[in-house]
Amino acid sequence: MDLKKLEEFILEVGAENIPLGMLTITNNSAAGQPVSMDNIRQTAEIYHSFGIPFFLDACRFSENAWFIKIRDPKYANTPVKDIVLEMCSYADGCTMSAKKDAIVNIGGFIAFRDPELKQKIAQNLIVHEGFLTYGGLSGRDLEAIAVGMHEAVDEDYLNYREAHTRYLGQVLTEAGLPVYMPTGGHAVYVDGGKALPHIPHSQFPAVALGNALYLAGGVRTVEIGSLMFEHVDPQTGEPVYAPLELLRFAIPRRVYTRSHLDYIGESAAICMKEAQAIRGLRVKWAPPVLRHFMAQLEEV
Ligand SMILES: Cc1ncc(COP(=O)(O)O)c(C=O)c1O
Repeated sequence: MDLKKLEEFILEVGAENIPLGMLTITNNSAAGQPVSMDNIRQTAEIYHSFGIPFFLDACRFSENAWFIKIRDPKYANTPVKDIVLEMCSYADGCTMSAKKDAIVNIGGFIAFRDPELKQKIAQNLIVHEGFLTYGGLSGRDLEAIAVGMHEAVDEDYLNYREAHTRYLGQVLTEAGLPVYMPTGGHAVYVDGGKALPHIPHSQFPAVALGNALYLAGGVRTVEIGSLMFEHVDPQTGEPVYAPLELLRFAIPRRVYTRSHLDYIGESAAICMKEAQAIRGLRVKWAPPVLRHFMAQLEEV
């Protein structure tokens, strides 16, 4: 979190207009980079100084904690479990999509420090999802989440996962793709704009690269660039594109072997050989919100 910008934003918008502040760990749209403990604490302090509750989007909590352990010398000897507890100690609550670091197929939860707030949300849950002990999930799914939360802080597993992701970064670099370094915890991000410099931002180079990869090897990726973030400048009426046209190679937990990652590298090398032939795209149809999930595109 850019602390200066955060403070300026709160002053501009007015604290009374901000129901809560949320920090996503790790940062999905910044190439999966972790948030340091100091930054989590300072972000919490700013929100709290304005009386705004502070929540974590904790879906990659254990990967964030692992990065704190291996990158911040102050935490080198602290167990990941304790790092997680300290991260959470600064927050008033968190949301958790358990499909990520709880290593399950489905489900999630929301947690609160304030019992009164929890009561209010629990009542709402009954109306929209189901009773608060299951919230629309089966008992089996809830038990899997509980087990997954414990397994996610196993340091051998975290060490392996980070190394596995780093290996994909190496494989893709060797295949000629410009990989954002250092690699993230859950994914490798490639700069699609740099990979295909003949395609401008307005023609979504990262989406074009993703499509080429799918055709070359059935490799599925997702764009985190201008298809996701393009917007119109309210002052000039001109389009504003994403600063980086990233393509994310997210790695499912405990699914792929090194051979799978090598195969992804081979598919990437095939694409890069024919890179000049990859064409830009234009939007044929898009829904009014979150267009990247359902938009239909065609080649220019
Ligand atoms: C950081 C982050 N938070 C929340 C979500 C939403 O998760 P769900 O699909 O379980 O609603 C996602 C989904 O990819 C995510 O990456």
